[in-house]
Amino acid sequence: MSRSAHPAGPRHADVYPEGHYTAPAADLNVLDEKVWARTVRRNDDGVVSVGGIEVTRLAEEFGTPAYFLDESDFRARCRAWADAFGPDADVFYAGKAFLSRAVVRWLQEEGLNLDVCSGGELTTALDAGMPAERIAFHGNNKSVEEIERAVRVGVGRIVLDSFQEIVRVAHIAQSQGKRQRVQIRVTVGVEAHTHEFIATAHEDQKFGIALADGQAAEAVRRALRLDGIELIGIHSHIGSQIFDMAGFEVSARRVVQLLAEVRDEHGVELPEIDLGGGLGIAYTSEDDPSEPHQIAKALNEIVTRECEAHGLATPRISVEPGRAIVGPTAFTLYEVGTIKPLEGLRTYVSVDGGMSDNIRTALYDAEYSVALVSRTSDAEPMLVRVVGKHCESGDIVVRDAFLPADLAPGDLIAVPATGAYCRSMASNYNHSLRPPVVAVNEGEARVIVRRETEEDLLRLDVG
Ligand code: LLP
Repeated sequence: MSRSAHPAGPRHADVYPEGHYTAPAADLNVLDEKVWARTVRRNDDGVVSVGGIEVTRLAEEFGTPAYFLDESDFRARCRAWADAFGPDADVFYAGKAFLSRAVVRWLQEEGLNLDVCSGGELTTALDAGMPAERIAFHGNNKSVEEIERAVRVGVGRIVLDSFQEIVRVAHIAQSQGKRQRVQIRVTVGVEAHTHEFIATAHEDQKFGIALADGQAAEAVRRALRLDGIELIGIHSHIGSQIFDMAGFEVSARRVVQLLAEVRDEHGVELPEIDLGGGLGIAYTSEDDPSEPHQIAKALNEIVTRECEAHGLATPRISVEPGRAIVGPTAFTLYEVGTIKPLEGLRTYVSVDGGMSDNIRTALYDAEYSVALVSRTSDAEPMLVRVVGKHCESGDIVVRDAFLPADLAPGDLIAVPATGAYCRSMASNYNHSLRPPVVAVNEGEARVIVRRETEEDLLRLDVG
């Protein structure tokens, strides 16, 4: 996830330190549409707007920091994924990226299914009316209570992650007089090119059952013997923020190979495969993500080809994009509080949020972009590090970026592509209040997750 070091450009080469940053854009006022939600633009008065509402107005009404989510973009991305895969495949939005009742309703309206991985996500999904049969339940250590509930409400599938779970789910389903549809999650043994913490297809990690050494084949053997479960397919998720389709191809090939082995051994053709999520998005101008139709085409081709080679009927494919749907649709709006220039180094720009609303930079060395959005500026670019207000120096939101040198306290800056894994991984560190998520659509803005209050904090503190 790191960019290579580039010279900062001839005008500034003498004043910028070594670092992982690209030369400043020719005009810092221009927003690169690659990293911003679809309706974001800079209006004639210089103020940036989303869904037709200027950020200055949004800040006044909802405060900062806050996440602003472009609803029409979210819906368009859902449709793009559904259309790309067509009626013979299923798209499950990965709720861990960001989930709320409004999101669940949008998913339903746009024809998507939902992947949940905890009782809390299941509650949100059901509460917002998602039909249980359109829900997939994931997790490497689902509690007995979670499994009992998932089976009771009738989720469409439970993705089994371990040998213990095969038996656990089968017993629970049987005790409820049910036959639960399940998939088995396998690790296919590819090294996805992404950060170690979000790569999930190599064998030395907690998720799934390895294809290697016949482990997955043994899992299938056991699953097929149990009455409480109906094995409908094999699941593989190779990691997150991946741009290279090669890993998905290897994964698809190995999963189909297992289907062939299952057919040969048991005379059973498993009807489904799930190839997980993990498609990368553009956080900076350097990133070039694929479009859903390109991804669908590549996956369909490889699965069809491999199945033909093995004489198998093509299974129904499902995918689980999270970040690729919600990530690009939101930005975080911050107010600049203090500015600390360090001669010959960089300028620290402190905002009113930080690692509590975006832990990804600290956790994965993630890269982000940033722009001054409350006005334009003709000032020279200055190298900045956007930092938060928390009590540690690793509290970095944007490690290296350029903002105009006349940046001042009170200016609004925005970090794009924060729709995924920012609010969903937000914390109360330093007893900060988690920011709201505001959906903006065609000139209307409404809070879909409200800002936390100090009462919320105190309510949990019952000592
Ligand atoms: N399916 C499964 C089984 C998953 O574990 C995940 C993500 C997804 C789908 C969705 O992946 P996506 O399309 O969103 O990349 N917190 C990290 C990402 C962790 C992803 C965990 N699993 C981050 O901020 O980058």
